[in-house]
Amino acid sequence: MHTILIKNGLLVDPGSGTLREEDLLVKDGMIAGRGAYSGEMADRVIDASGLAVLPGLVDLHVHLRDPGQEYKEDVRTGALAAARGGVTSLFAMPNTAPPVDSVETYRYVTDKAAHVSPVRVYQSATLTLGMKNEALTDMRALAAAGVKGFTEDGKSVMNASLLRDAMILAKELGLPVMEHCEDITMVRGGVMNDDANAQRLGLPGISNAVEDVIVARDCILARETGAHLHLQHCSTAGSVRIVRAAKALGVDVSAEVCPHHFAMTSDEIPGDDANYKMNPPLRTKEDAEALIEGLADGTIDCISTDHAPHGAEEKKRGFRGSPFGIVGLETSAALTYTALVRTGRISLLQMAEKMSRNPAAILGIPGGTLAEGSPADLAVFDFVRPYRIDPEQFVSKGKNTPFGGKEVYGSCRYTIAGGRIIYEADR
Ligand code: DOR
Ligand code: ZN
Repeated sequence: MHTILIKNGLLVDPGSGTLREEDLLVKDGMIAGRGAYSGEMADRVIDASGLAVLPGLVDLHVHLRDPGQEYKEDVRTGALAAARGGVTSLFAMPNTAPPVDSVETYRYVTDKAAHVSPVRVYQSATLTLGMKNEALTDMRALAAAGVKGFTEDGKSVMNASLLRDAMILAKELGLPVMEHCEDITMVRGGVMNDDANAQRLGLPGISNAVEDVIVARDCILARETGAHLHLQHCSTAGSVRIVRAAKALGVDVSAEVCPHHFAMTSDEIPGDDANYKMNPPLRTKEDAEALIEGLADGTIDCISTDHAPHGAEEKKRGFRGSPFGIVGLETSAALTYTALVRTGRISLLQMAEKMSRNPAAILGIPGGTLAEGSPADLAVFDFVRPYRIDPEQFVSKGKNTPFGGKEVYGSCRYTIAGGRIIYEADR
């Protein structure tokens, strides 16, 4: 029997909607109780005075790059980065090499994760075979193997008829269809947001409509099929408006945003530096403001990272020559706390809802609660002492972030998964 006592922490529990300073007792992998306990009864006591205890974060959008691109990341390094960020469950994207479009490839990742990952890895599967937009994967077999959601992330399913078929099947299977929203026919070589800064830098732009038309199309298809549509990395004011309207009509739609899309804007891109390049791109202040309003009023359900590690060499080739994507697992809580909670835009409880409770509910997995009897997946944060983000300290193989040097609040001090301490900060 292994017991951990977390003493005097501020328990932030989106499960019950409460914030309270209390001790929390972990026993045999579960939350065994809350209240006042004596330290003698535990194998390990964590003094959490001045710290906040959240349910472990659940990240719906992570690129582990395994199989096939392990020089960027692999299951183990991605999972260790998650642990360092307070993430105890992650949903891995299937745009690997080969893509996860078969039960065999799905099992390769989940078997590997069972051996090397300290966090819970849920592997997604693609909607179409080989991500070719021609034929659907065997969604039924993948669901039977344990897949919790389907996505073509990196692309949209441009064939609306095929996506409609996929939604009908997903509805039957009780699983979400998750979409990266990008009308590829409208991109025309764009590499950053289409605005004055793109003109200054002489770079081709990506308009908001590239995203918005797919968001609208997919909400229409979700309405018709009754499927659960989850919109990935929403970045535009238009997306927020469309999702708000669709929810009002009763469409089963949920949406996520990424910290970089509300914590940074396109006008902050200083030059031709691909650490600022991701898809969808950094947008305008008006867009970021709309995302924040959407988070605050419940239109946007979750915050996920789109953790997209790339090699340092690949990212040296400027906006035109580099792949899209930035890492996020080790900065998401701090960026969110600093940009949204510290500024009073959302509460700490809302942060825990968006980063733990809601994403767990969308996948139908455990998490997002500090209730007695729940799995002991926890993250203990220091939200008081500021620090500077240092990409060289990342345990992810990817150091590609535009936030290096930024002062933030919200360092993860301990991460506990299944009742085991899987990460502990040095200081
Ligand atoms: O920036 C991105 N990177 N956006 C995506 O949709 C895909 C991702 C990747 O796989 O690198
Ligand atoms: Zn994507």
